[in-house]
Order: sequence, then structure tokens, then C-alpha cells
Amino acid sequence: MRILVLGGDGYLGWPVALHLSRAGHDVGVVDSFVRRQYDHEMGVDSLVPICSLRQRVRTWEAVSGHQIEVFTGDLTDAEFVDQTFARFGPEAVVHFAEQRSAPYSMIDRKHAVYTQVNNVVGTLNLLYAIAEHDPSIHLVKLGTMGEYGTPNIDIEEGFIEITHKGRTDVLPYPKQPGSFYHLSKVHDSHNIQFGCRIWGLRATDLNQGIVYGQETGETVLHPDLATRFDYDGVFGTVLNRFCVQAVVGHPLTVYGKGGQTRGMLDIRDTLACVELAVLNPPAEGEYRVFNQFTESFSVQQMAEMVAEAFPGAVRIEHLEDPRVEKEEHYYRAAHTKLLDLGLVPHLLEPSTIRGLLAVVDRHRDRVDFSAIEPTVHWRRTASRLATTGGLVAG
Ligand SMILES: NC(=O)c1ccc[n+]([C@@H]2O[C@H](COP(=O)([O-])OP(=O)(O)OC[C@H]3O[C@@H](n4cnc5c(N)ncnc54)[C@H](O)[C@@H]3O)[C@@H](O)[C@H]2O)c1
Repeated sequence: MRILVLGGDGYLGWPVALHLSRAGHDVGVVDSFVRRQYDHEMGVDSLVPICSLRQRVRTWEAVSGHQIEVFTGDLTDAEFVDQTFARFGPEAVVHFAEQRSAPYSMIDRKHAVYTQVNNVVGTLNLLYAIAEHDPSIHLVKLGTMGEYGTPNIDIEEGFIEITHKGRTDVLPYPKQPGSFYHLSKVHDSHNIQFGCRIWGLRATDLNQGIVYGQETGETVLHPDLATRFDYDGVFGTVLNRFCVQAVVGHPLTVYGKGGQTRGMLDIRDTLACVELAVLNPPAEGEYRVFNQFTESFSVQQMAEMVAEAFPGAVRIEHLEDPRVEKEEHYYRAAHTKLLDLGLVPHLLEPSTIRGLLAVVDRHRDRVDFSAIEPTVHWRRTASRLATTGGLVAG
């Protein structure tokens, strides 16, 4: 298939592009490189060094014999999106290209507005491009489990049957997102579902859990193919951060009581889930939702698992929670649709954590201690950050 991977220079987009390319698909990647600009803005960097996209693609061709076409531009530029579709002619589009950090979206008004414009406008442009070029193109869109929030009932896979005053309907599951970033994903979901209804588009919304891990079957083939590894207070994901903290002898920083429970998955399962979605497209006009995670853990449980897997002493410290979220709550979410399609999950074993700790250990001299502390506070309308560059959102 001809597959366009949007956000193909990012943490997940790059390894997914490699995985699909290795599987024999014709892959094109689109990116504006804005993620690299956020690094400059925040004064942080991926723990594992990453090459330029041009170099990555050159090395991939040398290693695998497969070419990946690169399109540099911004999805909020409708003309660029249109030209890219005309040149590449995709049969499926995998859309990772959004500002994906909840703390970044909560820094202040500018960053909230930037996040929602970038994400919602980019996705709208994409919906128009698909509808105008070829409505049979399958859109595989990355959403997040964070769209649902933490209701006191089971979370279903996108839709819930409701009986109200004697009448029954299947309706979109209620959303209670926890940041302006998560809200942007909810807005996207509504726009995509609407596009399916009015134009007969076919779309899969992947409500993904928090991804951990850094190595995949393709990225390990050459150091130039490595994907990023973020551990800082704004872009770092929690398990990655705990592994960095354990290796450098910093206490593992649990926000609040640590009962916050989230769906999680291994980066290798992200690749498999996206591939399964692409290979099994929905019907014309169908908007479907898959909950893309394999296990759920509380933040405290994750800290304890890292402490147990690490060979040395590890202290767990509780910080005041900078976010507004329930610190203890019920959490049970359905996630059977990808398993039904054949997903065989990699579960979070001590050996997985030891693998992550080994990645961190190889790059421990690059750890910036000052980047780890939480700096963005949900209760304030503006958090002052010691940024180095000009604001991307400015
Ligand atoms: N990483 C996770 O744990 C996780 C969990 C759930 C959902 N997701 C979703 O998966 C997707 C990818 O996440 P990631 O961790 O790889 O993020 P990332 O920031 O590493 O990658 C996103 C890429 O998209 C590009 N991009 C952003 N806006 C763009 C625009 N307007 N035009 C062109 N390119 C643009 C960035 O430059 C970057 O390379 C995001 O949509 C994110 O919300 C990620």
C-alpha cells in the first residue's frame, strides 16, 4: 500500500514509518520539524541522540534497500497538504503530526491556543484533502485514552449504549479530557466523525495509552535510525522519566498520591496496532474507535516496578501534583478490538524495564537534571518557564 505517515520525524512516527517500509509498503513521511523546535524553546533534548530526517532516510535506504519519500511542511498549510496528496497519492494516511504534550498545552494562553490551532486545523485540512482527492483513503488518526478522563464507570471503546427515558441509542462515549492538549484530540474526534458522516470518509481513531520504550526491530539496525527518548518535565512520559531518575540516582518523582491509573503500551505494540488498523480498513463512511493500550498501571505501581527492576537503591518521592486530576480513582477500560484483529502484546515485564534502564545508562552523561522537575501548573493560567529560545507558540 501507499502509506503517508504524518509526523514521521517524531518519537512514534519515525519507527512506524520504518516498520511499514520494512513490511513492503511504499511509505512517505511528512513533518514540519516543529518538535525539534520545541526542544530549542524548552532548552531540552532527546536523551538518545537523533539524526536529521534526511540522514535517517539515507541510512534506512542503505540498510534496507527501501526508499522513504520526505515531504517537509506544515499541516496547517492547506496548500502544502493538498500538493502532498497530489504528489504522493496515498491509500492510507497515518496521522501522528500534532503537538502532543499536555504540560506544553498548559503553559499559558499562547501555548494552549497554539496546540489547539496546530492540532485541530491540521486535522481539518487533512479531512478536506482526503474528501477532495479520494474519499476512499483510510485515515488512521492518533487520539489518546486521555480523551475519556477517569469516569467512575467502565470506559468503552469509543461508544456506549445508553437507555434514556425508555429509548436506547449507541452514542459517543462521554469525554472528560484533562488538558487543552487532550481537548484538541476530542475536537479532532468530533471533526473526523462528522467528515465520515457527511463525505463518506473511512477513519480509525486510535485512542492510544501512554507509550514507553525506545527500541524497535528496525531502529536497532543502525544508530542513525534511533528514535527520540524524552524524560523532561514537559515532554517526558512517566516510565521513561522514572528510568532516567533511577539511573542518575534522583528520587522517582510521583505526582500526588500516585493512584492516577493510565493505559500503557510498549512502542513495539504501537507499530503493530497501526499496521493492524491499516491492513483492516473500516467500511466507507465508517468512523471507528480502537482503545490502543495493553495494560493499565497506577503511577505509584510504575515507580515501584522501576525501583524493583533497578539493581541499586531507589527512593520514591511524592511531589504536590501540578495537574488537576483525581489522585485515586476507579479505572477499567475496554481494549479488545485490536486484540481481536490479532495484536499479541508485549507486556511490561521486569526485563522490559531493564532494557529501558540499559538505554538510559548508555546515555547517562546526557541527562540534564534541571529538565526533570515539573514546571507547568494546571491551576495557574501562566507558568513561567526558563526557556532558552523564542516561543514556537509566539
Ligand atoms: N507518545 C505517547 O505516549 C502518545 C500517547 C498517546 C497518543 N500519542 C499521539 O501520537 C502522536 C505522536 O506522538 P509522538 O510521541 O510521536 O509525538 P512527537 O511530538 O514526537 O511527534 C509528532 C511529530 O509531528 C510533527 N508535527 C507536529 N505538528 C505538525 C504540523 N502541524 N505539521 C507537520 N508536522 C507536525 C512534529 O514535528 C513531530 O515530529 C501524537 O498525535 C500524540 O498525541 C502519543
